[in-house]
Amino acid sequence: MSVKPSGKRVFSGIQPTGIPHLGNYLGAIQNWVDIQQNNECIYCLVDMHALTVWQDPIALKKQVLEQTAILLAAGIDPQKHILFNQSSVSAHARLAWIFNCVTRIGWMNRMTQFKDKAGKNREANSVGLYVYPNLMAADILAYKATCVPVGEDQRQHLELTNDIALKFNYDYERDFFPQVEGLIPKISARVMNLRDGSKKMSKSDPSKQGRIELLDENDEIINKIKRAKSDSEPLPSEKEGLVHRLEALNLVSIYSVLAKQTIKQVLQDFGGKGFSVFKSALSDLLIQEIAPIRQKTKELLADENYLHNILKQGSAKASAIAEPIVSEAEYIVGFLK
Ligand code: TYM
Repeated sequence: MSVKPSGKRVFSGIQPTGIPHLGNYLGAIQNWVDIQQNNECIYCLVDMHALTVWQDPIALKKQVLEQTAILLAAGIDPQKHILFNQSSVSAHARLAWIFNCVTRIGWMNRMTQFKDKAGKNREANSVGLYVYPNLMAADILAYKATCVPVGEDQRQHLELTNDIALKFNYDYERDFFPQVEGLIPKISARVMNLRDGSKKMSKSDPSKQGRIELLDENDEIINKIKRAKSDSEPLPSEKEGLVHRLEALNLVSIYSVLAKQTIKQVLQDFGGKGFSVFKSALSDLLIQEIAPIRQKTKELLADENYLHNILKQGSAKASAIAEPIVSEAEYIVGFLK
């Protein structure tokens, strides 16, 4: 990670679809937890974003609570910081509409994530999926947050957020919205699929074999790592030896982040050794990290009222920050107040 931020207002979000995986954890959630110490943090379960593709209504409600529990178990502190679900703070939708009118269609057409998610039959997708990046910009700028911890796949959306802020400021001739900075980890910004090192680890992949989920049991973790794609060569002793060995690079990167060691250090220990030794050490590290989160999540899920209350309090605190900012933005664009 680059220099840790301090004294910033932080905003980030995660979609409450499926169970968060190792990519979500090492790319984002670990940073969310880390930077709570010196910053004011606002973390959001983005249920409105989830709706851009069909969600079963009962499952969506359940997943919001489940992810609340997982984030708490991972170390988010809802007393000192804010944890809430997006749809409960109306300022997000109101600012997103203004941004729909600021963003140019050409900007939207350049969004690679839309192209990836929409697939071949683009016209069959929801309009929500298309304008999703405007809602994401609104999420951040409704709080005038300046630090956004995310994985690499969100970089383009943050650049768009800055373009929107600049155009709004220019169109309405004032310095209203700040520029935002992504906090993107160095090594784990893009954790790859365990079965295919050229594909990102993703919740939407139909096979769970390519991802470790934060609620996986220990034996599932061991089996997934055992079956993770590797190659027939032993691990190299130098980093250069990982070039063109995508799967090996991915596993070594995961190990390095979990062990808090550089890739060089990891290869000093494992260079020349076969994958079976390395994979078994990697499983141990994963279990050490994930088992306590899984256990704590289960405990928290036993008390849904508690989770509801956390979100309710979080939403009230989030509204108190976003409401005056978004009301002012509405006034600036000419809405009668
Ligand atoms: P989402 O729910 O897809 O993912 C949540 C976070 O996990 C990161 N991530 C990864 N990091 C490393 N390797 C991977 N394989 C991997 N997969 C996912 C994502 O980069 C993200 O940080 N649009 C966002 C949610 C969002 C948001 C926001 C984020 C909505 N509004 C405002 C920041 C600020 C998303 O879909 O994340």
